[in-house]
Parts: sequence; C-alpha cells; structure tokens
Amino acid sequence: MEIIIQPTPEAGSIIAARIIAKLVRTKPDCVLGLATGSTPLATYRELARIHREGVLDFSKVTTFNLDEYVGLPPGHSQSYHAFMDEHFFRHVNVPRSRIHIPDGMARDIPAECARYEAAIVAAGGIDLQLLGIGTDGHIGFNEPSSSLASRTRIKTLTERTRADNARFFGGDLDQVPFHCITMGVGSIMAAREVLMLAFGANKADAVAAAVEGPIAAMNPASVLQMHAVAKCIVDEPAAGKLTRRDYYRWVFEHKPGWQKIGG
Ligand code: GLP
Repeated sequence: MEIIIQPTPEAGSIIAARIIAKLVRTKPDCVLGLATGSTPLATYRELARIHREGVLDFSKVTTFNLDEYVGLPPGHSQSYHAFMDEHFFRHVNVPRSRIHIPDGMARDIPAECARYEAAIVAAGGIDLQLLGIGTDGHIGFNEPSSSLASRTRIKTLTERTRADNARFFGGDLDQVPFHCITMGVGSIMAAREVLMLAFGANKADAVAAAVEGPIAAMNPASVLQMHAVAKCIVDEPAAGKLTRRDYYRWVFEHKPGWQKIGG
C-alpha cells in the first residue's frame, strides 16, 4: 500500500481529486466507485471546482456508490442518494443514467444485491474505488468480521457505526437505520485501483491496524494490503499511530519525477 501523509485534510483531498481527475482525463469513460461520509467531501468539492473551471468532463463517466441504508427512500435527507446528489452529482455532469447507488427500498434485497454486482460487471468493472474508513476499520459498510471475499449484500450496522453516524441524523440514534446494502470487501478488491482517505485522530487506530496490522476480517480495511494498486491518503492526526510514518514520507518525497502526482 502506498501511504501518503499530508499536513491537512484539504491537502490530502486535493491529491485525491488530482488522482481522480487524471483518471477521468486519460479514460473519459472510466468507472468510478464512490463513497459517502464526511471524509470525501473536500475531494468532491475540489472535483466540482475543477469541473466548473471547464477542464474536467464527467459526461462519459459511470459511477457506483458503495452503499445505502435499508429503508431510507432516495428522497430522505440522510439517504446516500440524497448525500451524493447534494455533495457531488448536482455539481458535475455525470449523466443520471450512469449513476448507480444500491436501492435501500428494494422489496427483494438479495435480488437487488445480485443486480448491483451484475451492473458493475456489465459496466466493465470499477477503475478506481474511493473509500473512507470507519473508526472500527470498516470500508463501505463492511463491519468487522465481514468476509474478506464478500460481495454486495445486506449488513447489520454495529452499535459503534450507528453511534458514529448519528450526527448525520441530528444526533438521534433512534433515527439511524440498523441495516444497509453494501458492496462487499471482495467487490471493493475487484476494483483496478483503490484510494482510501482517512482524516482526524479518531481514525488513527483504524489506519494503523489497516496499514501495519495483520490482514484480518476484524479490520476489513487491512485486506487492502493484498491489493496491487492501493493508496491511502491520511492527514497527520490520522497518521499518528503509524510506526513507519517517517519512512512513508521519505518514499513520497523521493518518488521519481514521472510518478509524482501533478496538478
Ligand atoms: C460510513 C460509510 C463509509 C465511511 C465511514 C466513515 O458509515 N458507510 O463509507 O467511510 O462510515 O465515515 P466518515 O467519513 O464520516 O468518518
């Protein structure tokens, strides 16, 4: 895994946006895997800014989101449909027909999960998957003990994740759903490239376990150690418990010129 430590979330998000923008320019019909949560917000803002400047066209891009709450209609303010619309899709030009988010209202959830996996395959697979990480090491909504080979399916959220996410529901834990549909860890691993972001001291334990700990289902993000093209962008507080952080900085500073992440 390539670890990129930046002084601030803003600096890390600019690098993430540059990586995504470069992919969209070199492969205009690329397939992006997108994430929700507070972590990718600045990346989405930066991508929207570049798009507004007229130098980034999403008109041929296809997107697949990681997850959605079960039981929240797309119009619900805390659904991930609404989140993505508010923070990304309304600011760029991805065609509606190319946007994919699991249907948390599906009557037949296993069928919806199978349909979602098939749609990813039909689109040619995900070129780049953007990820945040939960304080317990979850990616998407793959909570600890998730099968590292899992595919899109229903999951039950842990008490910790429900408590972490209650802030989006006005702090009312009772409003946070118990279930979600999430791409599996195996679905995420099938992406050609993975870009995980983590900002803030509350992510430091999860990041250290994911990057330097053993590969274990108890920290689903740790499986990214097995991915051939995985980058992890962290700010200083999130890097705080990485024992080899000086080494990661050294590597990033001494990349060959052609490998540097330009503007
Ligand atoms: C949520 C999402 C994840 C996200 C994580 C961290 O529950 N399902 O995709 O990465 O939790 O959220 P945040 O970025 O707000 O810390």
